[in-house]
Amino acid sequence: ANQIKRNTWVEQKVRTTLPSRDAFSHKGSHGRGLIIGGSRQMPGSVAMTALASLRAGSGLITIATVKEAISSIAQQCLEATFLPLASQEGVISERQQIDISTYDAIAIGMGMGRKKDTGLLTRKIVAKAKVPVLIDADGLYHISEELSVITNRKSPTILTPHFGEMAMLLDTTIQNVIAHPFSLAESFSRKHGVYLVLKGPNTIVSDPEGNQWVNTTGNAGLAKGGSGDVLSGILLAMIMQRQKMTEALSNGCFIHGKAADNLVVKKHSEQDLLATDVIKGLASVFRTFS
Ligand code: APR
Ligand code: MG
Repeated sequence: ANQIKRNTWVEQKVRTTLPSRDAFSHKGSHGRGLIIGGSRQMPGSVAMTALASLRAGSGLITIATVKEAISSIAQQCLEATFLPLASQEGVISERQQIDISTYDAIAIGMGMGRKKDTGLLTRKIVAKAKVPVLIDADGLYHISEELSVITNRKSPTILTPHFGEMAMLLDTTIQNVIAHPFSLAESFSRKHGVYLVLKGPNTIVSDPEGNQWVNTTGNAGLAKGGSGDVLSGILLAMIMQRQKMTEALSNGCFIHGKAADNLVVKKHSEQDLLATDVIKGLASVFRTFS
């Protein structure tokens, strides 16, 4: 009776599930996304997430980051709006209120660092948000300190760990995650009621019932700092485009990998490919699906 599904996610699935843009749509119909993260040391992370999210179809993107990083990020992301946050030694500090009530989805964690105060604020926001929340990178570190924060959430929670972060969430070794990626992802998703995107050469999407889909695109050119930040932005956009959550996540992973694949065939190599190239390469993928 409790039959779970385990399937690959291929081009034909994307073709049949990726929503098109309605001729009468306006920016509000494509989602207002909030990205919370970054620090004085890692300002590029949220910039890449924001640009990727806009290129993947988000209607409006707001970046909430340390106030001193905003002017440099704003030069890279002219289309984004900003929520300047109080900082402490270059990272987001706990002592502030962020109004999260006007957004359709939130991505949190990229480049925010692992300071204790940033963690307190992160867990407060994740506990309070009534919209889908995607948690990545250092955000995963902060919630691994208190997993009940995600288990207690009422709206969808999406975690995007790589194998090392998965090991941290499970308090186990990377070797163990490498040996049992499917079963560990499945049991974690069920136990905590979350969507899990376990990133690697073949990324596995798991839903809270334990169903799983394996991505078929991507190459070693993505094994470079920033690729994960770009994926988070794409996923944030997909989550806001009115699809079934598992389809949104699988489509996002497919598109991210496919952009990298197209680029190493036509213009770049696995050696020189950068995360920012992948953002520009999204055009080639979306054009084939429109
Ligand atoms: N083949 C295909 N895809 C790959 C490969 C590969 N060999 N290597 C990586 N990828 C893809 C993954 O599937 C994932 O989508 O690239 C992305 C890498 O994401 P992350 O591992 O999160 O990498 P990164 O962008 O460096 O993360 C930025 O977050 O996880 C922290 O410590 C990390 O501070 C760093 C930050
Ligand atoms: Mg990462």
